[in-house]
Amino acid sequence: MTTPSREELRGEGGAHRIIDMMTDEVNRWLRERTTTGDVYDATYDRRAAAGEDVHGEATFVMRFSPTSVLDAGCGTGRVGRQLARRNVEVVGVDLDAEMLGTARRKAPDVDWQLGDLSTVDLGRPFDAIVMAGNVMIFLEPGTEGAVLANMARHLSPGGVLIAGFQLQPGRLTLGRYDEIAVATGLAPAERWATWDCAPWVAGGAYAVSVHRRGCGLAKSDTGGA
Ligand SMILES: C[S@@+](CC[C@H](N)C(=O)[O-])C[C@H]1O[C@@H](n2cnc3c(N)ncnc32)[C@H](O)[C@@H]1O
Repeated sequence: MTTPSREELRGEGGAHRIIDMMTDEVNRWLRERTTTGDVYDATYDRRAAAGEDVHGEATFVMRFSPTSVLDAGCGTGRVGRQLARRNVEVVGVDLDAEMLGTARRKAPDVDWQLGDLSTVDLGRPFDAIVMAGNVMIFLEPGTEGAVLANMARHLSPGGVLIAGFQLQPGRLTLGRYDEIAVATGLAPAERWATWDCAPWVAGGAYAVSVHRRGCGLAKSDTGGA
């Protein structure tokens, strides 16, 4: 099988093509992705078939007993699909039409939307937002503030933003992540080293962070972000 070209990986259709035109050269993930959605997803299927629990993210999210979850940067929807199986109402958003294609094929009943996390307006809040699989470090550098402000706008009062990402030299630091989150009105609530709640140790290579929206307005609702 030959490797599909970037153009072949992009998907067809008007809305997809417009998003691609807007984000092609300005989104780190679209520049760096080297695989298809189906191939990406198949690695998790293989690990599950070998007996590995590949649903640590969904299990972690369920600790907060949400009735609704935004899977932000859902990709192939592997986390959102598992949450939907656990009777959570899920909306998934991603700007990559190829990855979303896999999500739509594998779970046609879930609401998968093509959109940019920095600007998408879903018109409703969620009990929890999950950004799994390094979404934060695949954002275009410099857009993290806009993305977190928009995520804060989509959280119910008391709702939680959950993000897991690798800590690598030259990429987003935890200090910067906390600073941006606090600026949008989200308070640090928990930090772990893994999705199965191994204790966080300073200097670790991966962190799962939980920030909680207060019960008042998010700063972004009042123009303060
Ligand atoms: C490594 S994948 C993770 C996918 C999925 N969350 C998972 O855990 O399997 C990172 C995803 O973030 C998405 N992404 C990056 N920047 C985005 C943005 N500004 N808006 C929406 N999605 C974005 C990419 O398109 C990609 O699907």
